[in-house]
Amino acid sequence: MAKPVLVSGIQPTGKLHIGNYLGALKNFVDLQNSGKYQCYFFIADLHALTENPTAKDLTTNTISLAADFLAIGLDPKKSIIFQQSQIEPLQELKWILSTLTPVSELLRMTAFKEKVLQALKPGEREKITKEKFEEVVEASNFGLAEYPVLMAADILLYDAKFVPVGDDQDQHLELTRTLARKFNAKFGKTFSEPNSLHTATPRVMSLNDPAKKMSKSMPAGCLFLEDAPEIVREKIKRAVTDSGNEIKYDEEKKPAISNLLKIYSSISGENMQKLEKKYTGKTYSEFKTDLAELVILHFADYRKKKKALAGKSSALKTILTSGSKKAGKVAARKIGEIKKKIGISL
Ligand code: ADP
Ligand code: TRP
Repeated sequence: MAKPVLVSGIQPTGKLHIGNYLGALKNFVDLQNSGKYQCYFFIADLHALTENPTAKDLTTNTISLAADFLAIGLDPKKSIIFQQSQIEPLQELKWILSTLTPVSELLRMTAFKEKVLQALKPGEREKITKEKFEEVVEASNFGLAEYPVLMAADILLYDAKFVPVGDDQDQHLELTRTLARKFNAKFGKTFSEPNSLHTATPRVMSLNDPAKKMSKSMPAGCLFLEDAPEIVREKIKRAVTDSGNEIKYDEEKKPAISNLLKIYSSISGENMQKLEKKYTGKTYSEFKTDLAELVILHFADYRKKKKALAGKSSALKTILTSGSKKAGKVAARKIGEIKKKIGISL
């Protein structure tokens, strides 16, 4: 029996943070190593284009993300690791799916709204009027609106059953399922409906604002996997904490310490009750010191491997080219089936 297909991608938009790791990448490695799935992991360079990077930055970030994939434990012998833009049938499927997607659905996507609002100054965002919002939407690039359709094509092209992502991607997965259902209802069963796979930490919060998701767009609150030990110590020391001094998991009353506890527990594998017991009577500062050392140790191997891959861009390109070829073959077969179904393959 063929193994169920699992697909996920990450945009090459800069350094990876611990939210990307605990929400997605750590799971990529565990799922790959479970041997239960046919895994496809790709670099979403076309999605990254929606942020209008320079050509040089996009190339550098693509190679750097390939190095991240390997340094963290993805293995081209076990998974198909590839570059999204190399898959030509993806464009055809994106177009076909876009003809089944109401514009209104795209405009109400939370991720779309957030990205559009990034064009505004922080003070303006909170008190935005409906008219001003419409103005910003109309001025935004069309790729930002189309983004979830391209993502649906990424998933459906390989008949994925599972998609490991953070919970900020759930709405996009919902749209993907809706599109699969619509297509199947109109043209006959062609796609399976994929489900997202979450870790125990599908939403790591910012170190300097526990009400906001840790995100590359707010680097000040990020703990990057590449951060040197002294930076990790400094960032965790400066991370905001809650009033009081008890180290207790309570997302509502103690969101900041709860976020740090979750990071600790996900990395060490210790459950929350055990952790709370271990830190009874200890200070925030003692806990933070231990957390920093845990993080430093956990990513030591990754940092070493990432450094070693720094001068190896041609080997990394070869891995991506070979993975793209494999994914491309699967994609070509699927698009053939799709074209027959919709009546354009005469
Ligand atoms: P960012 O939001 O920092 O730009 P990406 O959009 O590149 O990150 O996300 C890459 C993967 O990491 C996705 O699966 C996303 O859901 C996940 N992810 C991003 N931020 C977090 C977070 N703070 N907590 C958990 N998962 C996250
Ligand atoms: N939108 C995802 C993110 O921002 C990246 C992505 C693109 C993706 N295509 C995908 C994730 C397909 C899973 C499956 O992180």
